[in-house]
Amino acid sequence: MSDLQKSRSILQAAKKVMVITGAGISTESGIPTFRGEGGYWRGHRAEDLASPEGFKKNPRLVWDWYGERRTLVSKAQPNVAHLALASWSKRRGGISLLTQNVDELHERAGQTDTVLLHGSLWKNRCRKCKFEHRACELAYPTLPRCKVCNEITGPGVIWFGEALDFSSFHALNLCSIEADVILTIGTSGLVSPTADFIKRAQTKYNTTLINVNPTESNIQATIELRYKATEIIPELTAD
Ligand code: OAD
Repeated sequence: MSDLQKSRSILQAAKKVMVITGAGISTESGIPTFRGEGGYWRGHRAEDLASPEGFKKNPRLVWDWYGERRTLVSKAQPNVAHLALASWSKRRGGISLLTQNVDELHERAGQTDTVLLHGSLWKNRCRKCKFEHRACELAYPTLPRCKVCNEITGPGVIWFGEALDFSSFHALNLCSIEADVILTIGTSGLVSPTADFIKRAQTKYNTTLINVNPTESNIQATIELRYKATEIIPELTAD
């Protein structure tokens, strides 16, 4: 039996499946990953821009970067992997999808109840008073200010050094306890706390882990499916 067939039967037999996606699932929609060559922007590392310190130091530079990301994402379309996961979730219950991505392509593919672990590109969040709202501007000629406290407000993305929202953390914890199987797609498995919950599920609950990634990653899977997401997710999730 091939790894794909094994994975299919494990997923079909599972009562609760936790799907965790990362930037790799959106690369085929034209959005670069963080740790590939796309991880740099005008010579800056993503980690230096996506941080409270980076924003404090140069909010204009950070908003220019996020403005370009919003422009890129606004032109991107969900790909067949996003679409296959959305229809699979509709057809069979017991699937929780948690994504590290902020592009909302899962939602645009029709996925419901997605847990946005790292927030959304399409929100603005004030780091002073925590006021948050939907926002779709692709550029800010003058830096946006919080409607409540008038502080310069940033994108509603969870940055390096910031904690996940409680609801996301709770979902990550609960799903990783309850899942019979974890399916990881397009993530390097390097970023906490997601990476920690994956490891805890495996060591503490002996959870089966199926990983979809064309290259080596930090994920130690039960079954490694070395494919691009669009190459295998439609087949993996077909009835
Ligand atoms: P990374 O850029 O760390 O990893 C993306 C993974 O996707 C890599 O392991 C690639 O090999 C893999 N990949 C590339 N193309 C693929 C494809 N077509 N199909 C499947 N996999 C593919 O991105 P993440 O693991 O998501 O945080 O990074 C986690 C977080 O680090 C991100 O959410 C971001 C970043 O800082 C925030 O934005 C707050």
